[in-house]
Amino acid sequence: MAYPDLRAFLSDLGDDLLHVRQEFDPKFEIAAVLRSLPADAPAVLFENLAGYPGARVAGNLIANRRRMALALGTTEERLAQTWLENKGRALAPVIAKGSAPVQEVVHRSPDALLSLLPILTHHEKDAGPFITTGVVLCTDPATGRRGMGIHRMMVKGGKRLGILLANPPLSQFHANAEAAGRPLEVAIALGLEPATLLASVVRSGPLGPDKMAIAGALRGEPVELVRALTVDVEVPARAEIIIEGRVLPGVRETEGPFGENTGYYFSNVSPVIEVTAVTHRDNFIYPGLCPWSADVDTLLSLAAGTELLGQLQALVAGVVDLELTGGTAGFSATVAVKGCARHEVRRLIMLALNLDRRLKTVTVVDDDVNIRDPREIAWAMATRYLPERDTVIISGAEGYVIDPSSAGSSAGSKAGFVATRGSGPEFDKVTLPAAAAAKAQEFVATMLR
Ligand SMILES: Cc1cc2nc3c(=O)[nH]c(=O)nc-3n(C[C@H](O)[C@H](O)[C@H](O)COP(=O)(O)O)c2cc1C
Repeated sequence: MAYPDLRAFLSDLGDDLLHVRQEFDPKFEIAAVLRSLPADAPAVLFENLAGYPGARVAGNLIANRRRMALALGTTEERLAQTWLENKGRALAPVIAKGSAPVQEVVHRSPDALLSLLPILTHHEKDAGPFITTGVVLCTDPATGRRGMGIHRMMVKGGKRLGILLANPPLSQFHANAEAAGRPLEVAIALGLEPATLLASVVRSGPLGPDKMAIAGALRGEPVELVRALTVDVEVPARAEIIIEGRVLPGVRETEGPFGENTGYYFSNVSPVIEVTAVTHRDNFIYPGLCPWSADVDTLLSLAAGTELLGQLQALVAGVVDLELTGGTAGFSATVAVKGCARHEVRRLIMLALNLDRRLKTVTVVDDDVNIRDPREIAWAMATRYLPERDTVIISGAEGYVIDPSSAGSSAGSKAGFVATRGSGPEFDKVTLPAAAAAKAQEFVATMLR
């Protein structure tokens, strides 16, 4: 089932959404709550913001597979399968009929972004408030292709935003605009329903389909777009907020420090956006997303992890499942295989590490290991992996820009660990008799109810 917008998703959450009436400050306090919540906690709607009467902030929206499954109209067990089946169907967006909710309120050439929007300040040494769920939309001046991705943006005062453009396609589109001496027109969509947010960070590659069409495919319905008011960009008509602007050619300024998805502060010298308009819905909801949180883990797990799973399954027989390790910004993964010979596992490792530029370490286990339980992965490593025999190392790889150990250098390295079992019975995992296991399961479920 497709959710038309974030509001429809929130209203479907029922008891899985916590309405917070106590006052919280967008500066540090909301991020601190979001960082403190366990992944299994409900989503949260802050309804009383210090300094922003009437505005609301939503957070912890997709911190677990349960809510992500709801957003994609599937079950937790079928999440990866649903993603892989639907994503390829590419359903092109349509132009919305009538007036667009996101343009209910219009501020042309606003003086101060912060007086309009409760943009969160997250960590203690952050240089200021940062937009963390802004889906930046633009068109490549060279090819006319649409680009779409989440990029962090720092409020620099007034109507200027610093933007980290470290990844294609937007980094390339910006380079193309600069080469022509022109600004790159952009629109930043805030407050999208989760399927469209997820589609914005899928690795679609330079020749891949329009991510807006991937969003349509995941939703089972096309995304409705409307033309922005001051830039030549189409935007989701039912987003909560749109910020319109131009990335200025030839301008670079310090952006950061900012506490990143790695759990470390990262500063950069980055391009600058000059904002030309802000439009939003009546009583808009600002989407909060705390870096290095379970929300980020879920986004990466599907958009990068499941994507890689699909690619590996097409190349190597016996690949069963893949999970990115939470908290690692997508740098670390575990793959489960069934009946895969050791040399095939080594091939699998080299493929995985090369297909995903962010991935730095990958561990391969058999499918008797629960790859979503760190204890089981550690068990497989402790008992099935021999360091000298089972380590694959790739040197001279690109160091991912936000990884402090290799930060953007060409001296990065990657490693894979073969932690699959040998063939003898000494590798058989202990089991319980079925009847006793069923009785125990029922007993434990009743106790925890
Ligand atoms: C939570 C989150 C934050 C991101 N922040 C940035 C960013 O600040 N700058 C950037 O260039 N890319 C950022 N990205 C990655 C881009 O959105 C990227 O285009 C997208 O994930 C596609 O993946 P790829 O880079 O592997 O092709 C972020 C991704 C996620 C999930």
